[in-house]
Amino acid sequence: MALRLGDTVPDFTAETTDGQVNFYKYIDGSWAVLFSHPKDFTPVCTTELGEAAKLKPEFEKRNVKIIGLSVDPVESHKGWAGDIEETQGVKLNFPVIADSDRKVSDLYDMIHPNASDTFTVRSVFVVGPDKKLKLTITYPASTGRNFDEILRVIDSLQLTANHSVATPVNWKDGDDVIIVPAVSDEQAKEKFPAGWKTLKPYLRVTPQPNKPASKQAGK
Ligand code: BEZ
Repeated sequence: MALRLGDTVPDFTAETTDGQVNFYKYIDGSWAVLFSHPKDFTPVCTTELGEAAKLKPEFEKRNVKIIGLSVDPVESHKGWAGDIEETQGVKLNFPVIADSDRKVSDLYDMIHPNASDTFTVRSVFVVGPDKKLKLTITYPASTGRNFDEILRVIDSLQLTANHSVATPVNWKDGDDVIIVPAVSDEQAKEKFPAGWKTLKPYLRVTPQPNKPASKQAGK
């Protein structure tokens, strides 16, 4: 059955470009992003893996471990890493699972037979430190993912987890956020010393709590 938000994600042990990896041990209390690639030596995937490698410091800043997957063997991945470095100007710096037996692809429902019965789709799974699924996005093979959007959603998820706020439409880092309805006005007085605007009793807007005032929108 397909994984749903809030489910505990399944564990696995797999061969990767960095040796054998056990997913739960790899996560080890961090956030994680697991993302699949249809096949090695394909153009869109080559650009995506380059971008993910360039963004690794951004993921690390957010305490997120990244791990890719493609259904080809590890020797193929290693050859492809050379092309990624040559064309994208960056070394592969995180593990890519060699899922030749499709164990992980099947476990995470990454093969959608009506799209292709041999390639995985471009799945993204964001997993919290509690090993629960926080976000899933599925792109077709022909559309490269937007990794800035993945980072944006992680920022939003972490704001919710750490500060009890939600993020409004088209929110960007530094914009005002929304106090979740589960927080009463009484509790909000303590949690949000910068105050808030009540547009409706259910729509209370406050400056992003983990930003110094100078970095908040409009300051
Ligand atoms: C690609 O990664 O470029 C790709 C893979 C499968 C189908 C289409 C594009």
